[in-house]
Amino acid sequence: MTKIFGHRGSAGTHPENTMISFEQAYKDGADGIELDVQLSKDGIPVVIHDEKVNRTTDSKGFVQDLTLHELKKLNAVHKFKKQFKHAEIPTLEEVLEWASRKQTIVNIELKNSILPYAGMEEKVLDLVDKYKMAHLIIFSSFNHYSIARLNTLAPNIEKAVLYMEGIYKPWDYTKWVGGSGIHPHIKAATASIIQRSQHAGVPVRPFTVNDEKVMKRLFEEGCAGFFTDYPKKAVQLKYQN
Ligand code: G3P
Ligand code: CA
Repeated sequence: MTKIFGHRGSAGTHPENTMISFEQAYKDGADGIELDVQLSKDGIPVVIHDEKVNRTTDSKGFVQDLTLHELKKLNAVHKFKKQFKHAEIPTLEEVLEWASRKQTIVNIELKNSILPYAGMEEKVLDLVDKYKMAHLIIFSSFNHYSIARLNTLAPNIEKAVLYMEGIYKPWDYTKWVGGSGIHPHIKAATASIIQRSQHAGVPVRPFTVNDEKVMKRLFEEGCAGFFTDYPKKAVQLKYQN
């Protein structure tokens, strides 16, 4: 059955990449959550999408120039100021501690395709290990060197390449770089790609799927999963089918 992943939690209705957003996706019955990781100045994996804090917090600057202590002082409610007063930027550790209690799937996207973040793979793996989450983790990145590195360090954890456009035979490509799944932009996830990839044993999980018609198509095609900002809507549709 198609798995539903709350993209940055429930980013359509809650401040993205915050605990309230993840908790809502879980409450709404999502099979898992997706989150983005950057490193703070003091090398702590923190959950925030952009390299800068400008768009999603009340401050400015690069995440890598702020210590965890400084990042924790920011308010990440972003465009949901009316509904929510305050939300912190969570650390990856905080989210994994929560997810390990819930035993929910976590897609950890390493945001290291713009800034290199030396040692990011090791730091993230240490936390997955600490919370015994290996069986519930899917790593992904647009930086496919990072997928190769993760595969060397943790061959048994699931990994997927993220991509936007027409890679030739992406099911072969992902295996070549050390991945086990593919996470294409929805426009690159045609029925033929989904069918051929999954026939080759490579699950397909497109992003970001917010349109009900597209959700229905993916359910009908038996797509392994997808990422949505509206997990509640997706769960309702899934069980109508
Ligand atoms: O992992 C799927 C999706 O989150 C990738 O794009 O920009 O939303 O992180 P983005
Ligand atoms: Ca992401």
